[in-house]
Amino acid sequence: MTSQGITVAIDGPAGAGKSTVAKRVAESLQYTLVDTGAIYRAVALLADERGIAWDDDAALGPLVLGLDINFRFDNGKNHVWLAGRDVTEAIRTPRISLGASSVSARPIVRDGLLALQRRLAGGRGAVLEGRDIGTVVFPEAPVKIYLDASDEERARRRHRELLAKGQPLAFEQVLAEQRQRDAQDQNRAVAPLKPAADAVRLDCTQLSIDEVVAAILTVVRKRGG
Ligand code: DC
Repeated sequence: MTSQGITVAIDGPAGAGKSTVAKRVAESLQYTLVDTGAIYRAVALLADERGIAWDDDAALGPLVLGLDINFRFDNGKNHVWLAGRDVTEAIRTPRISLGASSVSARPIVRDGLLALQRRLAGGRGAVLEGRDIGTVVFPEAPVKIYLDASDEERARRRHRELLAKGQPLAFEQVLAEQRQRDAQDQNRAVAPLKPAADAVRLDCTQLSIDEVVAAILTVVRKRGG
């Protein structure tokens, strides 16, 4: 696989900067970019539209197996297409964030999405960002990065993002909700958020995006990507 690129797994909690960093790394290497969180979000959206509850395993199983999702870069943005429909914005609402968190705790959903995530990586050079890429989806990935930052710093970034979108929330509320999500992600029974034993851990509390991207590209080059 060396000549065509390698698999780069980027995991970590919400707000650590994974999306920005993963996009920059993929662009720089001309690798495929797979935002696995967007896949869980698409499942939640589709379930909502079909009147399926986010804990209805019997209905979620077939929905996941029939998921028709693709990613396409357009004007520097990674667009998410669901059955021929651009859902890039629709999957980012607070309701769908909640739904994604719920469906991602269902083993039937996680298992059902494994083959899809591996297929989207396409056996070529790919950057996948998520929570369990280095531990479950691609445990053999030659590059595994665990991106973290202090919870205050992650909440500050999220708070700024929401303000910019015209959704002002008290910082304390953003921090409290984030701590709750972190606890859910880290304590769920299946594929909990944790660094793979062989992951390179980057704490980006004090690092700029450029520094994080450069550090990851150095690791990729060392591993033959
Ligand atoms: O990264 P994000 O906020 O778009 O992720 C949405 C949800 O999906 C979040 O609750 C964590 C979950 N998720 C997961 O469990 N495993 C992944 N590989 C990616 C996301």
